[in-house]
Amino acid sequence: MKKQYLSLASLVVAILVAGCATGPSPADLDKITADVVKNSFRDQGLVKVSVLAPEDINTACTAAEVAGKPIDPDLANALQEAQLKTIKWPADGNYLGDWKKGEALAQNGRGMTWTDDAKTANGGNCYNCHQFDPKEISFGNIGPSLTGYGKTRGVIADPTSAASKAIIEYTWGKIWNSRAYNACSVMPRAVHKGIITEAQAKDLMALLLDPKSPVNQ
Ligand code: HEC
Repeated sequence: MKKQYLSLASLVVAILVAGCATGPSPADLDKITADVVKNSFRDQGLVKVSVLAPEDINTACTAAEVAGKPIDPDLANALQEAQLKTIKWPADGNYLGDWKKGEALAQNGRGMTWTDDAKTANGGNCYNCHQFDPKEISFGNIGPSLTGYGKTRGVIADPTSAASKAIIEYTWGKIWNSRAYNACSVMPRAVHKGIITEAQAKDLMALLLDPKSPVNQ
């Protein structure tokens, strides 16, 4: 706490000193801000300061947001291309795990905080933004409802068609790294960022695409 006050005080002094000359440039302000962040946070438990390291895609999306404009489409495409390359496709060609485990995982928002135990698997936190099982009454709506996902996209009726294959691959990619398809998506890059494992992604795939899953009743 004390350290944070000191950092803020030094920021104010730095701005005042810089202000006496020609005024701080945006680059100076960026450096001052980066120093404040560096001096104010430390690794604690699972949470590492390295999560604050700037990433091209975040810098670009934040710049667009600050400017109040959508991201430039060519830039978005280039960023998505790079994200797409991070996706690993199942080596055995098998995309579907156990929908029951998937449902529990979608419900579970545990993990990623400094008090969590690294040995316990994280939850997917999917219900926080999406509807899945229509019987579940507690869900968020930041993302679209995924109730009926496999059915409405034709995967249940004809799982081996080329169209179904494309949906299955897109769904896998979306869960692995959502920003491969929408550069500035707010959906977490679940497998890419190590939030969930590849096996857990298969269970979520089953929740969305298994004919027996409550999502497809
Ligand atoms: C913070 C909110 C948020 C969370 C958490 C979240 N999503 Fe999403 N998701 C979205 C949004 C918003 C979209 C649609 C637009 C986009 O891609 O940004 C989306 C899109 C999707 C789509 C594509 C839907 C379509 O019709 O194209 C799938 C599949 C999906 N999410 C699955 C999941 C799964 C599985 C989880 C849990 C691991 C999850 N989401 C967690 C916000 C979220």
